[in-house]
Amino acid sequence: MSEMILEGGRPLLGCVRIQGSKNAALPMMAAAVLHEGEVALHNCPRIADVFSMERILRSLGAETCWEDHTLRICCRNLHGFEIDREDAASMRSSVMLMGSLLGRQGCVRIAYPGGCTIGARPIDLHLKVFQTMGARVEEQGDLLEARTPDCLWGTRICFPISSVGATENGILAAVKARGTTLLENCALEPEITHLCHFLQAMGAEIGGIGTRRLRIRGVRILRDAQFWVPPDRIVAGTYLYAAAATRGKVELLDVPLGEIASILRVYEKMGGQWECNGGKLKADASGVRRMVEYTRTQCYPGFPTDMQSVLMAVLLTIPGKGRIREEIFEDRLKTAGELKKLGGRIHTAGRDAWIIGGGPLTGARVEARDLRGGAALAVAALAASGTTVIGNAGFVERGYEAIDADLAGLGARIEMR
Ligand code: EPZ
Repeated sequence: MSEMILEGGRPLLGCVRIQGSKNAALPMMAAAVLHEGEVALHNCPRIADVFSMERILRSLGAETCWEDHTLRICCRNLHGFEIDREDAASMRSSVMLMGSLLGRQGCVRIAYPGGCTIGARPIDLHLKVFQTMGARVEEQGDLLEARTPDCLWGTRICFPISSVGATENGILAAVKARGTTLLENCALEPEITHLCHFLQAMGAEIGGIGTRRLRIRGVRILRDAQFWVPPDRIVAGTYLYAAAATRGKVELLDVPLGEIASILRVYEKMGGQWECNGGKLKADASGVRRMVEYTRTQCYPGFPTDMQSVLMAVLLTIPGKGRIREEIFEDRLKTAGELKKLGGRIHTAGRDAWIIGGGPLTGARVEARDLRGGAALAVAALAASGTTVIGNAGFVERGYEAIDADLAGLGARIEMR
């Protein structure tokens, strides 16, 4: 796997455009399976996870092609229903194909999905949705097979906890089901709203978009559609916090302002300033100096778990004592161990991390353990003196299209090899 080499110690200055959202694009790609025709996704990020999903779609018989950042997917001749074990293991979002393949052809076989190792990531809620809609699900070792005797049936499903993926799978399964499906206690993450809007463009009938209660009336046929993948709120947050860690001044173009409110609130608490005009966010982080005493990750619209390790990296640069509590995933504080190698003073216990910030950070050899953790190491490295080498940088490329070029454009000394 590749390495990222950074030389830190200088403020980020300049302008960068925010790429399309990974977690919006992936379920949209899975949704393409529902339609016996073509969809086009504009502003689609050219990242490893999108390429993995593209490979899976092709293995099922879909045709795909890229023109710059437009990805066209044609599933007219889709024939397969079995997802290769290695492909399924390559990323979590492979599980989205369960809902769409069941919705399209009533059967799917897939190994348990992989993804970042951030604690147990069960899919019981996804399977419950399919079963409630009439599918039979069988497990043989790590292989799952789901089949409908005739079709999926619309019904009422109330999620016991908020799950982004289970909500998305419920939506995908319901779009072509017979009758109306009521999904209650849905997750509110913006990527769900984007998926619904994309499906609407394809002709799906979905009510209650943006609320916890979605009502989906099954349709028999969908239509060709094109859609603009919205910008990535976590990439925007990462670059904003990279500016904060280095006390820089940056302009972020195409920022999904409404979606990063909680990220901005924490940035303001640190002393960061910003203004936004027409999607351009100007951030002046030269005044960042206040420790944020307590932050806990929450479902949207709370502070996102995907920003937790990046926040940890920024807090290390601010004098004082702060605490971060990870509420969503049971084992997502692993990056703390790597940040310590840069001189970070962090103590973790269970779901809590205590950070004593303001001490010197010094470049070292560290290893990315997951996608966002890898980005957090880059943020800390930018604030550290000397050179940092981040191993397993391929993790970062799963979600950031060109983090090296983006940060270099902001004046960072960075190289991928
Ligand atoms: C999505 O994962 C994102 N992935 C994650 O982003 C993100 O961290 C997460 O939502 C939370 O916002 C994609 O969109 C591809 P969940 P997902 O189902 O859908 C439990 C990144 O870095 N749960 O909302 O897998 C689960 O264990 C990634 O881009 C069950 O118990 O998350 C967790 O504690 C990593 N049973 C909680 O729900 C289930 O069947 C929330 O998970 C499903 C989930």
